[in-house]
Amino acid sequence: MIARMQTNPTPHHAKVQARRWPKPELPETTEGDDARSIPELSEVAKACRRCPLWRNATQTVFGEGPDKAKVIFVGEQPGDQEDLAGKPFVGPAGKVFDAILEDAGVDRLKVYVTNAVKHFKFEPRGKRRIHSKPNAGEVQACRWWLDKELEMIKPNLAVALGATAAQSLLGKVVPIMKMRGEVVERDDGLRVFVTIHPSFILRIREPADKQAERERFLQDMKAVKKLMAA
Ligand code: URA
Repeated sequence: MIARMQTNPTPHHAKVQARRWPKPELPETTEGDDARSIPELSEVAKACRRCPLWRNATQTVFGEGPDKAKVIFVGEQPGDQEDLAGKPFVGPAGKVFDAILEDAGVDRLKVYVTNAVKHFKFEPRGKRRIHSKPNAGEVQACRWWLDKELEMIKPNLAVALGATAAQSLLGKVVPIMKMRGEVVERDDGLRVFVTIHPSFILRIREPADKQAERERFLQDMKAVKKLMAA
């Protein structure tokens, strides 16, 4: 499946232009075992070559937040803006996420936010880069980093934002709409709260439906807040 991914760079954003493939030399390493902290791990991940997605992305977008956070939120993959900024959840979905976290009384600065896949996968369409869903091989390859983040942070709760995150955290395909709001305990004891990805709210056009979905996501985040304390 990895072999089917598109590999042409997209020549539009100034920053993307500046970082065009072939990229500046980075150490050819897939290691990370020596890393003793999240900042060290994040540094090593800059040179990740575990799957081909690094080729077209601007940079690795690693997780962010306190390394002793009680909760870790896991999204799918960085989007266009995250790829340029090098930070998770700073684009449109991030803004929805931030606003709802705030309404739920969850301080984003106190939680760790990351993605199942740490490079932006996209298809060029004119001047735009259109999000493309990571495949199972890419999710599996990047799970190495997520496992390391979990090992170092030792959160007492993980929140799977959408299907890709749930698949990565639980190691199987998860029917999100059916399992939404459920807490699944993994063999290692980690509790995983399953919910939608905030971009789902963005995609709803009808205002009343959008508002209703936002409200449901807010209730999910309030449930997460309660579980954080437990
Ligand atoms: N969507 C994600 O899953 N993660 C991000 O960082 C941004 C958008």
